[in-house]
Amino acid sequence: MKISGNIKEVRDIVKEWKQQGLSIGLVPTMGYLHEGHLSLMERAIKENDRVVVSIFVNPMQFGPTEDLASYPRDLDRDAALCEKIGVSMIFHPEPSEMYADDFCSYVDMSGLTEELCGKSRPVHFRGVQTVVSKLFHIVPANRAYFGQKDAQQLAIIRRMVRDLNFDIEIIGCPIIREEDGLAKSSRNTYLNTEERNAALILNKSLTNAKNLIASGERSAKQIKDCIQETIMAEPLAKADYIEVVNFDTIKPLEKLNGNVLVAIAVFIGKTRLIDNFILENVN
Ligand code: PAF
Repeated sequence: MKISGNIKEVRDIVKEWKQQGLSIGLVPTMGYLHEGHLSLMERAIKENDRVVVSIFVNPMQFGPTEDLASYPRDLDRDAALCEKIGVSMIFHPEPSEMYADDFCSYVDMSGLTEELCGKSRPVHFRGVQTVVSKLFHIVPANRAYFGQKDAQQLAIIRRMVRDLNFDIEIIGCPIIREEDGLAKSSRNTYLNTEERNAALILNKSLTNAKNLIASGERSAKQIKDCIQETIMAEPLAKADYIEVVNFDTIKPLEKLNGNVLVAIAVFIGKTRLIDNFILENVN
């Protein structure tokens, strides 16, 4: 398995694979890989002849008060996992390789980026779209794989690819959870034992909401209130947002119908965790 931080070298290798008629899957990550990432890689390996994993903690998608410096990093461990699973190449650039000192071109969107995480993280999605666009140009893959845990990110990337005619298929993959239901996330490593236990409230509140919907409730307000009540019962938890939106447009719904995304962001102590579920064709 090749590891390269050099854009030209990665481009040349990918070009050669393409000339040989090989299909290519790209799994963009910020590293500190967990089973959620591994599930994306496994699927990419199944569906493509070659798989490139990018590992880049993208400074542009972190706000000034966010966790860029403390975001966990362990390239050796990540590389061992990638090698074992059968990844062909890791792209691991330095920030200076991705962003020249006078970098000033961005990819942005109006609409889907304003709700949910966009409210509390105003520069986040511009950073995500810009880096993902760059990755799609550096590794012109047939398919790129993203987790549904970042559901808004997935919707935004799908829309960007459609609007800007990127020649790549976006594959969304299900949320992978710990045995007790906590969605896997690199940020779970920030939690101490007490907080780790309190973090179960995210999945619990979503399960309560799912049950309420299954019983016939279609009012977004009732669903949100049910989630809020569950979260409030946990003293270490504080909701950042609880939203019920259309999954394709990320616009708030009053009444559940169509493709529905129920998404939450919750502070457990200082750590902000997200989770969600999607229901298709609700009527
Ligand atoms: O989901 C992530 O880890 C990041 O937002 C991504 C897509 C790798 C872009 O930096």
